[in-house]
Amino acid sequence: MNPRVVSFEPFPDQRPGTSGLRKATRVFQQPHYLAAFVQAIFIARPPTAPLVVGGDGRYYNAEALQIIIRIAAANGCPRLVVGRDGVLSTPAASNLIRSRQALGGIILSASHNPAGPEGDFGVKFNGPNGAPSAEDVTEAIFEVSRTLRSYTILDAHPVDLSVTGTQRLGSTEIEVVDPAADYADLMERLFDFDRIRELLRAPGFSMAFDAMHAVTGPYAVELFERRLGAPGVVMRGAVLPDFGGGHPDPDPTHAAELMARMNGLHPPQFGAASDGDGDRHMIVGPRFVVSPSDSLAVLAANAEHIPGYRGRLSGVARSMPTSRALDVVAEHLGVPCYETPTGWKFFGSLLDAGRITLCGEESAGAGSDHVREKDGLWAVLYWLNIMAARGQSVEAVVRDHWARFGRHGYARLDYEGLDTERAAALMDGLRGRLASFPTGVLVGRRVESADDFAYVDPVSGARSERQGVRLLLADGGRIVFRLSGTGTSGATLRVYLEQYSRAPQAADRSAHDLVAELEGVAAHAAMFESFGLSRPSHRV
Ligand code: G1P
Ligand code: ZN
Repeated sequence: MNPRVVSFEPFPDQRPGTSGLRKATRVFQQPHYLAAFVQAIFIARPPTAPLVVGGDGRYYNAEALQIIIRIAAANGCPRLVVGRDGVLSTPAASNLIRSRQALGGIILSASHNPAGPEGDFGVKFNGPNGAPSAEDVTEAIFEVSRTLRSYTILDAHPVDLSVTGTQRLGSTEIEVVDPAADYADLMERLFDFDRIRELLRAPGFSMAFDAMHAVTGPYAVELFERRLGAPGVVMRGAVLPDFGGGHPDPDPTHAAELMARMNGLHPPQFGAASDGDGDRHMIVGPRFVVSPSDSLAVLAANAEHIPGYRGRLSGVARSMPTSRALDVVAEHLGVPCYETPTGWKFFGSLLDAGRITLCGEESAGAGSDHVREKDGLWAVLYWLNIMAARGQSVEAVVRDHWARFGRHGYARLDYEGLDTERAAALMDGLRGRLASFPTGVLVGRRVESADDFAYVDPVSGARSERQGVRLLLADGGRIVFRLSGTGTSGATLRVYLEQYSRAPQAADRSAHDLVAELEGVAAHAAMFESFGLSRPSHRV
């Protein structure tokens, strides 16, 4: 078993985006591509302490892990903590990094993007706090990768990852762990499992959790079926390398089977789903879907009902495009509400500094200081705990919330597969016209202010520019434009529409109805017609 140096031509395109390096699977399968990126990580951050590795179980996960293990061993990593069968959900990996006091972790995932030879793959490097690396680290890795011409790998047989226990590879110890055990213990410490168990057993109550054939299957079985005693509630629980051919994003379009049950004749009282790597969530009641921004606000407003959060909310944060429903709750609670750029990495320093306890994004991600990633099953348990404590249905919890705080009607429109340069030109056009917006009226709406969001991390002082164009309307409306940072081909323009209303009638209108007018305002402001944009490819 000797370390071998392998030479290759440098890869110029390994700059991590919103959530690590995400590319088509085929790109990762090119000779040396994955190995080069892993070596770049280990040059930027030498693996002098234990590392956690695992992934969402998608196609190429197993092969990629073997490559990572052999490169880590050749680079002197003393210990690797690996999920059995190479599986770890993103939040469970974050938890293991923290509980094992590791140097960090390598998480293999392209989140909710489809898997398979024609799908996507991704590699994310998290730091010792369990959070996705900050931009200075990802930039350092990128800088190394641009000129890197060789990596060092141990020549060895594949390591058996199917049984838990410790083995050796060269001088590296490899510990294979049950992926769900530590995570489920953590959940038991945060939530009132006795009360949730009672709710799940109550006559007439039933739930369905859609794991979408992705990583949460084994976690959901451990939590809901074993520890909470509700057999049969997990749908599509087997982890399949192609995620069953689906697109594991927990929204009503992609969780069609669950939605059919929730809208059917005898729906479960509670429906939920998570995404490919287990960090996103969707909450549904019979014929009632909770918008992700509302879910975040509800979690914050109900912290007093949750053992792990009662009396300890120091502050909250949301990504800029997320609706301002959270801000209204924060004001009521008398705690600060931070507004960060898109991507979980910006919450890390606020969580570490104790400035916030809860945070989330409009893209169905919410989390807290229990780990440093968003956490899908955590959100589902939080909701169950709220319902158990309040004795209310999903819909009643949300309607009460709107009655107290007002409603933020919200929708996101995605324009996918755009030409990269044209999309950049559209954004530049908007930036160039920023000063002109507040001086006039846009399709009958007055713009109060317009800017390109910039963020200064209040803890580290790091500055992030050009994070999205926002138009704040005088009547409580808001329109945000930004380009996606997770796409793997072409550009995706995201347009976020939000309309606040305290009128009781707002509760009975659909979210799309509430923001319908803003769609025309957005199209006009960004000159969609001259860019050939008409209908969004996706609405959430
Ligand atoms: C998207 C979401 C963002 C989330 C990220 C990773 O990024 O918008 O909130 O953090 O996926 O799950 P985007 O494609 O918009 O850059
Ligand atoms: Zn995800």
